[in-house]
Amino acid sequence: MFRLCLATLLLMLCTLPALCAAPGEAAPPWWKHAIFYEIYPRSFQDSTGNGVGDLNGILARLDYLEDLGIDAIWLTPCFPSPQVDFGYDVSDYRAIDPGFGILADFDRLVAEARRRGIRVILDLVLNHTSDQHPWFRESRASRGSARRDWYVWRDGKGPGRPPCNWLSLFGGPAWTLDPATGQYYYHYFYREQPDLNWRNPAVREEMLDVTRWWYRRGVAGFRLDAVDTVFEDPRLPDNPLEPGLNPCGDPNMINLHNYKQPEVHGLMRELRKVADQSGAVLIGETYVESAAELKAYYGEGGNELQLPTGHLLAMADRLSAPEFRRRIAAMAAIGCWPVWVLNNHDLARSVTRFGDGVHDDAIAKDLAALLLTLRGTPILYYGEELGMANHDPKRLEDVRDPVGRRGWPTGKLRDGARTPMQWDATPGAGFTRGKPWLPIPAGAATRNVAVQAREPDSVLSFYRRLLALRRSSPALLDGGYRELNPEDPHVLAYLREGQGQAVLVALNLSPEPRAVAFDLPALGWAGARPQVLLGSGGRTPMAGLPAELEPFSVVIVALGRSRPADPTGRGGKPLE
Ligand code: GLC
Repeated sequence: MFRLCLATLLLMLCTLPALCAAPGEAAPPWWKHAIFYEIYPRSFQDSTGNGVGDLNGILARLDYLEDLGIDAIWLTPCFPSPQVDFGYDVSDYRAIDPGFGILADFDRLVAEARRRGIRVILDLVLNHTSDQHPWFRESRASRGSARRDWYVWRDGKGPGRPPCNWLSLFGGPAWTLDPATGQYYYHYFYREQPDLNWRNPAVREEMLDVTRWWYRRGVAGFRLDAVDTVFEDPRLPDNPLEPGLNPCGDPNMINLHNYKQPEVHGLMRELRKVADQSGAVLIGETYVESAAELKAYYGEGGNELQLPTGHLLAMADRLSAPEFRRRIAAMAAIGCWPVWVLNNHDLARSVTRFGDGVHDDAIAKDLAALLLTLRGTPILYYGEELGMANHDPKRLEDVRDPVGRRGWPTGKLRDGARTPMQWDATPGAGFTRGKPWLPIPAGAATRNVAVQAREPDSVLSFYRRLLALRRSSPALLDGGYRELNPEDPHVLAYLREGQGQAVLVALNLSPEPRAVAFDLPALGWAGARPQVLLGSGGRTPMAGLPAELEPFSVVIVALGRSRPADPTGRGGKPLE
C-alpha cells in the first residue's frame, strides 16, 4: 500500500504544472474540477445536543471536509420551515431556520469555508413554498388577495371534484380544497407545499431576487430543487392513466401535463443570467429517462444549467459493467459536461442498492473509483466516503418522512439514507450528545470517520487517495473518455486521455477474479510504461498492466506522459 501511495505522490509531483492552463488558454470554470459534497444539515453535526444537526455543527467539521478534498458543499434547505418535508417546505427564503442557527452563523460558515477553499451552494425550492409562507397565507386569505395569483388556484369541476385528475407525487390528489374561498390549490408534493404560479412575472422577479440576495452573501450557486415540476399546463387537461397502482396506492399516471413542460427552459435561462453575474453555478435536480433528454437542460450553447443531474448512474438497477458502460456512453454521446451522482437524500444509499452484503466495502471502493475517475463533475453525499449503507426503520411508528409512512411498508423510504453522519464510536456517533433525530446503526461503532481514518485500507482512506489522485491528474480532470474492451461483461474499463497523458481505469464489477487484457499499441500507447497509481485489490502489482483483477476490485494505471505515436492524427487532443 505504501508503495502505491509513493507512486501516486510521484505522479502528482510530475504532473502538477500541467494543471495550469497554457498561456492564452482560458482556465476551466471552477465547478468543472470541483468535488461537490451534499450535506443534509439535520444529519451532519449537532452542536447543541438536541439531536438535530445545525450550521455551527457543519462549521466544526469544515477541517474534515477540507482535508478530504472537498471544493463545494451543497446544503439541502436550511431556510425557515415547518419541516413537513424536512426543509423542502420553505416559509422564508431570506433567512435561516432557527433550528439550524441564525444568519450570522451562516455568514460565518461561508467565510470559514471560503478560507479553506470551500464554496457553499444552497438548495432553492422553486416549485412550491410552505403553506405557512406569508405569501401563501396572503394568497389564501381571499379570492381578491393581491397574492392570489402567486399560487395555482382553480375552481373544482363540481362538488367534491377537483379541477383535474392530477396526483401528488407523495400520494392522493394534487388539489386541495380551501373551504374558506371555495377553490382548490395545486400541490405536486404534500398539501403543505402549494405550487407557486411561475407564469406570474412577480413570482419570477421575486425568486430571481432571492438568488441575488444570497449571491451577495457569498453563496456560490444553487441546487435547483424539482426543476421538472415547476410548470404545468394552465388548461389543466387530465393526465392519462396506466394500469396498476403506485407505491402510494394511487392509480399509475403519466404526468404528461404537469411535468417537464417546455416553459421551464426560459426560467432556467433567466436564473442562469443572474448566476453568471456572480460566477455562480446552477445544479439542477433533473431526473431523466435518457442522456439525450438531459441535453435540453444545458440549453442552447450552454445557456441554462451548468450541472443538470441526470442521475444516470444512480438509476442503474444493478452493478453491471455493460449497464454502466451503456449509461456512460450515452452521456458521452451528447457532448455535454457530465455530472455524476450515486447518492442523495432521496435515494437508498448506493451500497444498499449495489452491494451484495458480502463485498460491500470492495463495492463501495469500485463505486468511488467510478464516480471520481469518469469525465465530469462528481457530487458526493455525506457518509458515502465511509461506505455508509441505509439504516431503514423497521416499524411504521419509527418512520419520520411522511411519504414513508404513507407508502409503508412497500413504498419509498427516505429515512434510511438520511441517518446521522458517523464520526466516531461514541453512542451518538460523534454526531450528537443527545438523542439523534434518526437512529444510528450499531455498525457505526466501527464504520466511522475516526476508525476509518486510521485504517489504510478503509473506504475513507481509499476515497482520500482517489480524491488526491484526481486533483493531481490532468487526464482525470480534463481528459477525454475512451471506452475499452466494450464486450467485457464483467470488467468496466476506460481510458482518460489528454495533454499527452492517459490513465487507464479497470473495474471488476463481479464477485470472481477476472482476466483482463489491453492492447496498448492499438490504443496508440505502444511505448507506454504503465505505472499503477491506485488499486483496491490486495495483490495489485506496481508496474505493468494487470492481467487479472480480484473480485470487485479496481486498478488505476498511468500509461505515460506522452504518446509515442498518434495514429488518430488529432495531435493527442482529448477524445470527445
Ligand atoms: C426534491 C427533494 C426532495 C423533496 C422534493 C419536494 O425532490 O430532493 O427531498 O421532498 O423535492 O420538495
